[in-house]
Amino acid sequence: MDTSDVASDLSCVLFTKEQIAARLAEIAAEIDVDYADKNPLLVGVLNGAVMVVADLSRAMKIHCEMDWMAVSSYGSGTQTSGVVRILKDLNTDLHGRHVIIVEDIIDTGLTLSYLMQNLATRDPASLKIMTMLRKPAAVQVELDIAYVGFDIPNQFVVGYGLDYAGHYRNLHDIGVLAPSVYA
Ligand code: IMP
Repeated sequence: MDTSDVASDLSCVLFTKEQIAARLAEIAAEIDVDYADKNPLLVGVLNGAVMVVADLSRAMKIHCEMDWMAVSSYGSGTQTSGVVRILKDLNTDLHGRHVIIVEDIIDTGLTLSYLMQNLATRDPASLKIMTMLRKPAAVQVELDIAYVGFDIPNQFVVGYGLDYAGHYRNLHDIGVLAPSVYA
């Protein structure tokens, strides 16, 4: 789906698919160096991080593995519920593994704080975070985020895996959802 297909639903485009690909290539190059010979495990947080994991992993030149977790922290609205539940757990044993949690966006950081604590108890060799987008509130939480795609303003965004009520995940670009859509 292109921005032109849903133009009236977006206030503006923040990042085009070309900008997203260019930034992911830079991060992939950093990961190639940081994890050379470490066979990192990319843990994608469903559903939003599907596109990020798919494109980041393919931009990397080193071997890696992938696994997926599903958690719920948001309903169909635009506010965090504060509740984090594991809906799907990993298939991989994390003992001794170099783990990179891959997120679409960090807002309050609630989801990731929970995930970091939970995965840390599984004895990984290392545990780091990569997020495509970071909102301002995330700076206030005690999270060491190793790789950030872009810092964005505190607005509700969609596209590139990010949804509103299940839609817009398949949009190439990342844009700000027009308030008229959820008002
Ligand atoms: P946090 O726990 O507040 O950091 O929220 C993280 C999760 O909330 C993300 O993985 C998204 O699923 C969702 N989320 C936060 N902000 C947005 C947004 O602007 N658009 C779409 N989803 C969002």
